[in-house]
Amino acid sequence: LRNLYMEKKCIADDSEGHDLSLFCVPKHYEEDLDSVIIPNGLIKDRTERLARDIVRDMGGQHIVALCVLKGGYKFFADLMDYIKTLNQNSDKSVPLTVDFIRLKSYSNDQSTNCVKVIGGDELSALTGKNVLIVEDIVETGKTMETLLNLLNECHPKMVKVVSLLVKRTPRSSGYRPDYIGFEVPDKFLVGYALDYNEYFRDLSHICILSDRAKEKYKV
Ligand code: IMP
Ligand code: MG
Repeated sequence: LRNLYMEKKCIADDSEGHDLSLFCVPKHYEEDLDSVIIPNGLIKDRTERLARDIVRDMGGQHIVALCVLKGGYKFFADLMDYIKTLNQNSDKSVPLTVDFIRLKSYSNDQSTNCVKVIGGDELSALTGKNVLIVEDIVETGKTMETLLNLLNECHPKMVKVVSLLVKRTPRSSGYRPDYIGFEVPDKFLVGYALDYNEYFRDLSHICILSDRAKEKYKV
């Protein structure tokens, strides 16, 4: 059953996604994208279910949701809304507080080995708490492993990680988050707050970036 479930949330390597002309994308990005790989509605529907799974597992105790900025902000906001909806419509509910951290590891389309914490609240505020880390995408896994190491020094009571996307790549360290929205092919993805050198956060759908655009927006 688990295998079936794992397969279902995978987007296949040979998936070409949906033609751009089927969806609304900003005019200024039309030339930069190969295709829409995960439309906004599908992201939301999957997020609703992740919220249910998380509340089922972590429910009954106060959750501190830690948003990994900037790429995680859309997923974080939508996930929090779904958890709030569950909370206000059931007999069981959990207090939810939020925290933010800013990390940087990327230059152009390459993950760098150096992961920097460049802002956010003090991690020491998370001592003794049940922490849910909310991330946009796991590629090599280095960002998450670094953050987990930093966080564990502060002795939280429990740490779970939810990532909207996990890339299937030979560069993976083998790290897997507790909750995964979709497994995606080894391509550079943008939209829904995922960026390429700060561009494309203002795009609703998750799209495959074209090689031409990688040159165009290179720093
Ligand atoms: P990792 O440390 O290699 O796992 O990389 C994780 C971070 O790199 C994520 O938090 C993203 O910010 C960024 N990243 C990795 N792949 C992509 C992508 O396809 N599009 C946009 N950002 C990405
Ligand atoms: Mg990120």
